[in-house]
Amino acid sequence: MFHGHFEDRVRPYIDLIDSLRQLGVEEDLPLPSIAVIGDQSSGKSSVLEALSGVALPRGSGIVTRCPLELKLRKIKNGVQWRATISYSNVQIEFDNPALVERYVKEAQNKLAGDGVGICDELITLEIKSPEVCDLTLIDLPGIARVPVKGQPEDIGDQIKNLIHRFIRKVETINLAVVPCNVDIATTEALRMAQEVDPEGKRTLAILTKPDLVDKGTEKNVLDVVRNQVISLSKGYIVVKCRGQKQIDEKISLDEATRVERDFFKHHEHFSCLLKEERATVKCLASRLTQELVDHIKKSLPVMLEQVNKQLWDLRKELSRCDGGPPLDPQKRKVFFISIVMKFNDKINHLSRGEVSNSDD
Ligand code: GDP
Ligand code: NA
Ligand code: MG
Repeated sequence: MFHGHFEDRVRPYIDLIDSLRQLGVEEDLPLPSIAVIGDQSSGKSSVLEALSGVALPRGSGIVTRCPLELKLRKIKNGVQWRATISYSNVQIEFDNPALVERYVKEAQNKLAGDGVGICDELITLEIKSPEVCDLTLIDLPGIARVPVKGQPEDIGDQIKNLIHRFIRKVETINLAVVPCNVDIATTEALRMAQEVDPEGKRTLAILTKPDLVDKGTEKNVLDVVRNQVISLSKGYIVVKCRGQKQIDEKISLDEATRVERDFFKHHEHFSCLLKEERATVKCLASRLTQELVDHIKKSLPVMLEQVNKQLWDLRKELSRCDGGPPLDPQKRKVFFISIVMKFNDKINHLSRGEVSNSDD
């Protein structure tokens, strides 16, 4: 569904940009990447997984230990899914989606050690498939408050510094992930997001785990979502991803989408959020799509300028060329002979040590 939606609205823009690139427009138009920040186990990887359809390592404790850049690239229908994972000097290509988790874990172990350490080094996973959309998503280690056994004292600062490097970039859309069942006022993720983006132009808050809200506190969640607690210009969206039990039961991502919809539809307090377009991964996806469309629209005038400049340069170069070979084969022979003779003259000049100043 995300894919269908994305197709309709963004595809024409992306196709346009692809063809401009093929025509040699010098500067690429980088699409914004989408980074997730939040406490450990707040549901960051689950959100990315639901958005991308790619199964990522998930679980309790510190699971994401290195920044993981997930580059999704759409390819023609009928072409097989394939992926490349790259980090330090390793590059592995594979064509089995079931291997993603294993390779990501392997990469993390190599970069950050087998334990609970973290590492700044980026793991890049490029996935080419007819089923994905052109997006770059960045999964980041969770913000940790207290070091666990085996972690350095300053692990909290290390992680925050790492996150900061990604979220400060103006072309990054930051998803601040906060579970519904914690006190939003104390979440570090929102604070960090507001610090790098005070006007909230590129911050979207995602509330996860609505199924774990304590009875009687649903009203508090609704207040947050309706921007009445910490006001954000882009607001909040509530999503329900797969819990550990559903993962153990091997519920597919497609099925999880249906489960999510039913959850909201039949929820005593949260069903109104469907109408308000503040719930479900699908809604999140369409909001992100809109962000991408806006970004591309804003970039088009710059690209137009580039294309015009290139056209002007080429016209200038063309005007310095003669007419080129004539179409008539007979005349063409004469044309080439004259070029060869000019060339021959030049060689003669050079061999006599004369320097030619002419420009032809
Ligand atoms: P991360 O550490 O922020 O990347 O969090 P994960 O995505 O690994 O999720 C942590 C745990 O929370 C996993 O066991 C998920 O299955 C679970 N989880 C994520 N989203 C939800 C949700 O909406 N509801 C429930 N019940 N569990 C969730
Ligand atoms: Na986790
Ligand atoms: Mg994670």
